[in-house]
Amino acid sequence: MTHAPSRRQLLAATAAALASTPLWSRAADKSDKTEAPRFTLPALPWDAAALDPVISASTIAQHHGKHHAAYVDNLNRLLINSTLVDAESLVEIIQRSARNEGRRPIFNNAAQVWNHTFYWQSLRPKGGGTPPLELAKRIDADFGSLTALRDATLTASTEQFGAGWVWLVLDKNQKKLAVVKTGNADTPLTQENLVPLATIDVWEHAYYLDYQSRRKDYAAAVFDKLLNWDFVAANLAKA
Ligand SMILES: [Fe+2]
Repeated sequence: MTHAPSRRQLLAATAAALASTPLWSRAADKSDKTEAPRFTLPALPWDAAALDPVISASTIAQHHGKHHAAYVDNLNRLLINSTLVDAESLVEIIQRSARNEGRRPIFNNAAQVWNHTFYWQSLRPKGGGTPPLELAKRIDADFGSLTALRDATLTASTEQFGAGWVWLVLDKNQKKLAVVKTGNADTPLTQENLVPLATIDVWEHAYYLDYQSRRKDYAAAVFDKLLNWDFVAANLAKA
């Protein structure tokens, strides 16, 4: 006659099974519906239609719901069995996978997850206009004027060859604000001296539905009408 295992025996067996399985493999096991994926798609900080007509609701729906979501899904999948399983944060994953060919797929997806979340925060309905006073003074000191910063941003957006990003950063070595551009998924997070303050996504998927190939018009409209200066000022204050 066989006896059913006791509750104690069941708990011990479960604990042994869990101990032998890497944490994120459990998370990705489709048979285990209770485990959440490591990263989830962050909600937008505003309604998808809130940036219309500068950026349409359909562009936002595609950009956030398809492109950003795909980077999150790809990252979760790639992290299974990766040696980056012990990384404690998205930023740590980005920094440990940068400039490493073997980890290029993880870097691309992790950086795109972070870049997009930062982009959404860089925008807001009824943004643009005049920055807060202290930030405006800093822009005048480092660029000469807000117009000069705008010109530098539009120049970087048009000179970026192919897909990429335009960033307002603090260059800690120069102790100055600066505009930089990065290609594809690359991000200033991988350069120790640069602190990202705001970004504009210049991948075609960010603007093509609304502006077709007129990237400069898109960048100008974002700068003039959507840029979240409070977000820039907050990032600068903690840099
Ligand atoms: Fe994008």
